[in-house]
Amino acid sequence: MTLKINKVLVTGGSGFIGSAVVRWILAKTSYQVLIVDKLSYSGAYHTIERLVDNKRCRFFQIDICNKKAITNLLLSENPDAIMHLAAESHVDRSIDGPSAFIKTNIIGTFSLLESVRLFLKKMDANKKDRFRFIHVSTDEVFGSLGNHGKFDENSPYRPRSPYSASKASSDHLVRAWGETYNINSIVTNCSNNYGPYQFPEKLIPLTILNGIFGNPISVYGTGENIRDWLFVDDHACALMSVLHKGIPGETYAIGGDCEIKNIDLIKMICKILDEIYPNKKYKHEELIKFVVDRPGHDFRYAIENQKIKNALGFQPSYHLEDRLKDVVKWYVNNKWWWQPIWEKTYRGKRLGAL
Ligand code: NAD
Ligand code: DAU
Repeated sequence: MTLKINKVLVTGGSGFIGSAVVRWILAKTSYQVLIVDKLSYSGAYHTIERLVDNKRCRFFQIDICNKKAITNLLLSENPDAIMHLAAESHVDRSIDGPSAFIKTNIIGTFSLLESVRLFLKKMDANKKDRFRFIHVSTDEVFGSLGNHGKFDENSPYRPRSPYSASKASSDHLVRAWGETYNINSIVTNCSNNYGPYQFPEKLIPLTILNGIFGNPISVYGTGENIRDWLFVDDHACALMSVLHKGIPGETYAIGGDCEIKNIDLIKMICKILDEIYPNKKYKHEELIKFVVDRPGHDFRYAIENQKIKNALGFQPSYHLEDRLKDVVKWYVNNKWWWQPIWEKTYRGKRLGAL
């Protein structure tokens, strides 16, 4: 069945992945897009400024915890689907201050689901049947892997950080509201994303910016921890196939088939910087500094992609080794995006060290 969609509401649409989803929708469909974002520290308006020039895209600065405002928006705009990406997203910040994570990720998702419940109550059966709620979650809810095995849709929940515990809670709420109130919801659990417009607290953009400035490049612990990297546009593409073809009530794990140790990734970035942003005084690898580990640092994440590949035909189209150079170039060439953030919001300070 092909879903009839006219209008999609994207929560967290000013953030890294949310804005990639909005770009994807505007480029590849004729849908209208409503961006709902409170513009927290990580949601810069200048990320979406050019997108809202498009008449099909409108921005609403609303906190997802504001049930009245969200309910009114749903009733007045009547969207066919919600892609829910608004969240507190950084593990280190959740170690320093978990309460924002409980508030947005758990209470905010609860509040949003309640608004959806009220909205769907007023809709006819046909609209209710067509409506989709796509909850964008993380592989971190499954905890930490050893050297072998991968996470999939049946992996048990074992969150180990305040961030992942808050995301796990939100996944449970979405599934429970789906079952109890008959909301067509789908949960996705994705691995680490990389790409343009990622807030520079995260490993890849932080390493690039510290490399550009000649600052120390921090490696937590031994640098042996492994992540499975997916290019953000691939994630957006996967989420759109989940929206169009995913089965309500199901879960889809999404990964990049691309595992790498942090230290190897950091060295790759350093080599690229030596090539495209050379410094006469040093090689970028000389900036690497091993620092105290993240408390409760998950050792390894890896996703078994079979279900989404077989059921929805999704295949990651980019590999880190081919794409990373373009991403480093993007940060080197798009100072207009990160400079205001670096000057006013976040300047590379170590977070989550206790
Ligand atoms: P991000 O921090 O870049 O963006 C989050 C956005 O949510 C920001 O625009 C922020 O302003 C907004 N927001 C925060 N609190 C809000 C609230 N109370 N009301 C409205 N808007 C609010 O994060 P991201 O990396 O783009 O992650 C998006 C989603 O994808 C999150 O749910 C995250 O858990 C999930 N995810 C991220 C990754 C990754 O590697 N970044 C991987 C898997 C899943
Ligand atoms: O797996 C999906 C998750 O990936 C998402 O749910 C999160 O929203 C996203 O932030 C990301 O979480 P990580 O904790 O894996 O990402 P981060 O970029 O913070 O760190 C990646 C790895 O690099 C991790 O092992 C910690 C390490 N690290 C991180 C920073 C910021 C360093 O060694 N040095 C650093 O300076």
